[in-house]
This record gives sequence, C-alpha cells and structure tokens, in this order.
Amino acid sequence: MRTDPHSHFDDQQPRATRWHLRLLVDFDQRIVGGEATLLFAPPAAGVLDLDTKGLAIHRVWVSVTGNEIPWELGPEEPILGRRLRLHLPEATHGISIAYETSPEAAGLQWLEPAQTEGGRHPFLFSQCQAIHARTLVPCQDSAAARVAYDAEVVVPEGLRAVMSAGPMGDEPGPIPGTRVFHFRMPQPIPSYLLALAVGDLECRDLSPRSRVWAEPAVVARAAWEFADVEAMIGTAEQLFGPYDWERYDLLVLPRSFPYGGMENPRMTFLTPTLLAGDRSLVDVVAHELAHSWTGNLVTNATAEHFWLNEGFTVWAERRILRALHGEEACALAWAVGQKDLEESLERFRDQPGLTLLRTRLDGIDPDDAFSSIPYEKGARLVAALERAVGEPAFHGFLQAYMRRFRFTSITTEAFCAFTEEQFPGLLARVDAEAWLHQPGMPAGAPVFGSARLDRILELASGFGRGVRPGPGEAEAWGVTELLVYLQNLPGNLGPQACAELDGRLGLSGRGNCEILAAWLVLALGSGHDAVLGRVREMLTGVGRMKYLRPLYGALGRDAGTRALAREIFAQAAAGYHALARRAVQGVLDGYPDS
Ligand code: BES
Ligand code: ZN
Repeated sequence: MRTDPHSHFDDQQPRATRWHLRLLVDFDQRIVGGEATLLFAPPAAGVLDLDTKGLAIHRVWVSVTGNEIPWELGPEEPILGRRLRLHLPEATHGISIAYETSPEAAGLQWLEPAQTEGGRHPFLFSQCQAIHARTLVPCQDSAAARVAYDAEVVVPEGLRAVMSAGPMGDEPGPIPGTRVFHFRMPQPIPSYLLALAVGDLECRDLSPRSRVWAEPAVVARAAWEFADVEAMIGTAEQLFGPYDWERYDLLVLPRSFPYGGMENPRMTFLTPTLLAGDRSLVDVVAHELAHSWTGNLVTNATAEHFWLNEGFTVWAERRILRALHGEEACALAWAVGQKDLEESLERFRDQPGLTLLRTRLDGIDPDDAFSSIPYEKGARLVAALERAVGEPAFHGFLQAYMRRFRFTSITTEAFCAFTEEQFPGLLARVDAEAWLHQPGMPAGAPVFGSARLDRILELASGFGRGVRPGPGEAEAWGVTELLVYLQNLPGNLGPQACAELDGRLGLSGRGNCEILAAWLVLALGSGHDAVLGRVREMLTGVGRMKYLRPLYGALGRDAGTRALAREIFAQAAAGYHALARRAVQGVLDGYPDS
C-alpha cells in the first residue's frame, strides 16, 4: 500500500535498508553522475517502485551478477516526478542503478565562484527536505522508509566534500585532477536527511565532538559565533537522553542557502546570515541540534505529520534557550514565534486545511504548505501537554517517547496512541482534537509572558499615542527585544515616525538580518522609501526565504514598488536557489496587477 502522498513508496514492496552511493560531481556540466546500489535485507523479489525526478536512468542490474534487469519510467507527475518501476529477480541482495542528475535538480544548487565568499572556487550543496532526495538518487523517497548509507564522492582536486555522515577518509580520485571522499552513515535515516556539500571548505574545532566547516573567509567568524555549541548539546542531552550520532558538526553555506538551518545528521547546514557577530541568532543552532532527537531519531512518517518534527523541535529549542539564557529570553522567543504564527494563520485564511497540525496534502507540494503553523502551533500543543501534566512528568514522557520510537518514523495517530497509553485522558484534557484537526488556534492555548516582554509590547502598541521608550531604554535592548518591538509596532507608522525611529536606533545600518528584515518590512509598509536601496541590497545579497518572502510581499504595496520588485527579482533570480525562486515567483504572482 502507498502510505505517503508524496512518494511511490509502497510498504508491501521490498525495502532497501542500505544504499551504497558512488557520485561523480561535474561542475562544468552541473551534473552528478551516480551509481546507486540499493541493498535488501532479507533478499527481495518482485516489483519495486522508486521515486525519481529529473534523473536520466542509464542501466539497472543485479549488483553481484551484473545481470541487467527490466525497468520502466512512468509519466512525469507534477509533484512526485517519475516512478521508476523495477522487477527484481528471486533472492536479490542488491541492485545497482547507473544514472545522472539534471542540471535543474531542485535538490542541488550549483554556485559559480562569484556566488561564494571566496570568489575563487565553485560550490555545490544539496537540500533534500521535503521531497528532493529523488532529484539526487533514485530511492524510496518517503520518511517512512529509513536507510543507512555509504558513499564515495569524486570532486575536483582542491575542493572538499562533506555529507550527513561520518567521514571515512579521502584519497586521489580515479580520474587525474580529482579527489574521492568516503562517508558512512551507519544509522538508518529518512531519505530527506541525505546531504552533500562540495566547496573550498576549512574547519575549526568547537569541542571534542563538534567542529564548524565554512569557506576560509568566514570560518573564524563562524567558530566565534557558534562557540557555545557544546553547552547546547549538554542541555539537549538532559532533555532527551544521550546524543546518539557521535559527532555534531556545522556547515556554514554560501548566502543563497534558502533556509536558516537544516538538520542534516552529523552536519547541520546553516545560513551565513546567522553570523551576526554577537551570537544573537544561535537559536537556529539550538533548533537544528534538537532535531537530532525530534526529527532525526523520531521522524514524521510523511509531510502530513510535519508538526511532530517541528513542533517538538521549537519547544525543545526554547527549552535549551531557557537553560542557557533564562526565562526572559525564552518568553521573548515565544513572542517572536507568536507573531510568525499570526502571520501564517493570516496567509492561509483561504486554505484553513493548512492550519491544522495533522494535514492532508494529497496533491499539495510540501514546499507550498510550508509555514510557521507546524512550528508554532505545534510547539504550543507540546507546551499545553507539558503544562497539563507538569514539568517532571513531561520530562519522563519525553524520555519514554524517545526510547519507544527511536530510529522509527511515526504518524500523528501513533503519537496519540502512545500519549493515551502513557497518560490516559490527557489528549482529551488539552483538547488535542482541536489542536490537531481543527483550523486556527484553540481557545486556551498557552501564553508566555514576562515583565520585560509586557513592557516592550506596551511600548509598541502605544506608539501611535506617542508612547516612546525612555532615555537609553531601547538602546539597551538586545536583538530579540528590539525584534519583538519592531514586530509589534503598528503596521503603518508613516514616513516621519520611521525616520525618527531609524535616527534613534540606526536600524538601516544594522548587519543583523532579523532586525534589518523586520525594519525594512515595517518601513516599506509605512511609506518610508528612504530604505529602498537597502531593500535592494538585502534582496540581492541574501537567499534565505524567510527574508525574501516578507520583503517581496511588502514591495507589493503600490504600482511603483511592485515594478521595483519585478526589476530586482529579474536581476537576483539567477543567484537564488530554485526553491527561493519559486517562493518569490509565488509572491509576485499574488500581486494585484499580475
Ligand atoms: N527542517 C527545517 C527546514 C526545512 C523544513 C527544510 C521543511 C525543508 C522543508 C529546519 O529545521 C528549520 O526548521 N529551519 C528553520 C529554523 C528555525 C525554525 C529556528 C529555518 O530555516 O528558518
Ligand atoms: Zn526544524
């Protein structure tokens, strides 16, 4: 039976338990030449359906005998790609597929040297979540099907490959001028956690089990920014139990990386926009680290249960933050999330189905369903469960949850059955039905307050009445206080008040992308067009979708700013990741005059 609306994976068919990948990275053609071996334990036979997208399949054979086997590629389906159907002979231990990726593979971004920090070497990185692993490897591309893998990756000499796996050494490659890197991921992972990056990379140790990789020009800044990672790992271990993946390394990507972070196991991928120079944005690292448990150990079975990954992880991220920086910092983080949540609820006003936690995504691309709802509504449900049973009991629950489901992929229904077993009646008590299956936010959702937060919200909401921070007050705020203030100011301040605010707080000059993006959105909405140059700079310099979406959205204000948005996009699109290009195109298509 097919169990995942986004995959041809069929749970009655043979299941690959291990991959052996041989990948040849060709920067000139922007192609990865691949040989993927899928191993079956126990040996398998019969029909096997794999997911592919944009892959050219050359040959399929039984690994040990070399005998070719029949295969057929189905028609191109808009979200799924093409089904690759194989017919396995009796007692097949493994099959091998020779193939090539497409230069347009959505899971890969190929960067010219000019798009890197160093400017001298090309760069390649993957982003497989949610359903892009199939653009890299023919596979059962459902989170329900877990695999271990080995890989050897051949790259041009002078470049280094890293993967979501343990490094197993490198040596001169099979072709002159190449080097081959070996990897091994012994634990079974969902396909969306397959990850590869190739570039001019250096590393700095952060602790005995953690180091950061980045281009030489940024690696020192990265090591400084993420110096506290070991303390985070320790705190996360107290929450969830021992860190089970040996190493926790970080990779800082070039600016076009479309997300803040991606929890690729053993090697979190991060946007360089986190390098704010003040360690103020490391909550993203806490988040990706927490996925080592919630997401990578216990995994959502399909994108319809995405809240199990992200809701738990946001909750855990804020727990780590509380342990390291205290209650006030934690309350501020919940307040930032509250704003994101409200924006997402507003965005999906006409698609209430996407505001449920347990979603139905038949015919819906997971990238289009992406929003803060599984994150923030999900985290609030976790907090509601915790408040209902108390912190110590909930701590025990989490440990039991990890023990029961580690290295498995589960549905919301499995989660509910387990919760009912551990705490009979708890789901009814928090009205889980409303959280999971009804749109919007349930009445009685947990609220997070603190004296400092209340003061900032009061200042923000009073702005129109002339209320202002006292002398030196706003100047003393940290990044998150300022962010909460900006997010909660009235949406249209008018140009004059903006000029006043900018004069006082130097907002346009900020290097911190969270502050800068919030400020530019506010200024655009307030008709303060003095910021247009800075908006262009940010839209051409940063590829993180979290900033692109609202900025292009704010440029939808009037005919003039819409023309400017189209002009900037025409100039910047080539540098954006395919996912970002698609997301921005969606925003532009929503403009009233499109
Ligand atoms: N796993 C996500 C990123 C993701 C989700 C990629 C869905 C593709 C499809 C990652 O853990 C994440 O949530 N990143 C956030 C960070 C944050 C909430 C602290 C981001 O990128 O902004
Ligand atoms: Zn996440």
